[in-house]
Amino acid sequence: MVKVAVLGYGTIGKGVVTVLQTNADSIEKKAGERIEVTKILDLREFPGDPNEDKVVHDYELIKNDSDIQVVVECMGGLEPAYTFVKTALLQGRSVATSNKELVAKHGAELIAIAREKTSNFLFEASVGGGIPIIRPLISSLSADVIEEIAGILNGTTNYMLTRMEEEGADFDEVLKEAQAKGYAELHPEADIEGWDACRKIAILTSLAYERQVDFEDIPTEGITKISAEDFLYARKLGMAIKLIGQSYEKGGKVYARVAPMLIAGEHPLAPVRDVFNAVYVHGNMVDDLMFYGRGAGSLPTASAVAADVVDAVKHLGKNVKINWNPDKLILGDSGQSERRFFVRLAGDTPEEKIQDIFGQVDYISIEEIREKAFVTGIMKEEEFEEAVKDLDVINRIRMH
Ligand code: HSE
Repeated sequence: MVKVAVLGYGTIGKGVVTVLQTNADSIEKKAGERIEVTKILDLREFPGDPNEDKVVHDYELIKNDSDIQVVVECMGGLEPAYTFVKTALLQGRSVATSNKELVAKHGAELIAIAREKTSNFLFEASVGGGIPIIRPLISSLSADVIEEIAGILNGTTNYMLTRMEEEGADFDEVLKEAQAKGYAELHPEADIEGWDACRKIAILTSLAYERQVDFEDIPTEGITKISAEDFLYARKLGMAIKLIGQSYEKGGKVYARVAPMLIAGEHPLAPVRDVFNAVYVHGNMVDDLMFYGRGAGSLPTASAVAADVVDAVKHLGKNVKINWNPDKLILGDSGQSERRFFVRLAGDTPEEKIQDIFGQVDYISIEEIREKAFVTGIMKEEEFEEAVKDLDVINRIRMH
């Protein structure tokens, strides 16, 4: 039997215990060992919970329990998660975590400790909840050069954008619903400002290019400026608006960004609705791939964490190599990245002025909205910022 400790008994931690207990028999067959959660760390009491007798409040009790071989971290945030995880790895234990903040910031270091101690640091659930995407990048796609990753990486904002698009729902109301369903972060700015998606694309990009990508280097914009009118234009263009975490390689440089983007209706990311996440990957040999599933929520995320526990048990005493070099990958200058932009200008902007700046453009008009709206040609980010600096911009959205 392999004994497991779970740190954090919130939405995900409870889900992990439920998955490991509900599927105990089939998991035992797959892991080759019975897996039992023997201790759960949380500051709270859980009277009436079937696992209340396993709850402890002091990490030392887990640290000093030499029977524990695998630690599951579902506390979220950097501290004390980082200290606890590092301690467990230095003790030679394997760790499975759903914590993207921890992985984005300290992934390379924790992977290196696990390698040195011949254990494993596993983090499938840190990106895309229940979607298998980390293992495919580490293993299945290792023969490819990854040319692009574009992901809908945050369930809360995708749920919100879907409700706004389909029902004209109000921003605050849909945020509350996402929180009630257990999708949102403790501080919802992490979702709506794009910070959560930023950490996730930093992790995927680090794995794709095998070097440390600092999330602080990734320009990040959330969905707070997206309005009902934007969706009217998107519909007219036959496109969807999605919060996209994107990285791509061009001319030997890797570029990364998080922003709401207009996606062509025929692109596989366009129809991804509700809390579902999807990661589109383009490899130079495999061509287009799409990974799709529930990116948030208790059991889908827990399914990925529990599978990491199974993997850790299957590889006790062996390290499965993950290439994530701690040397920093210097990203390409975001001002030099090129794309088309959808722009909405005040209705009284003279067309001659628009033509002078952008050349000939096709206007997109919506009967009840008096604006000048159009899509630019391909421009560098910094050229675009320069072009619109003296214009009365209502909104602008990048085109994928
Ligand atoms: N708040 C995150 C989301 C949870 O909505 O996707 C999963 O990381």
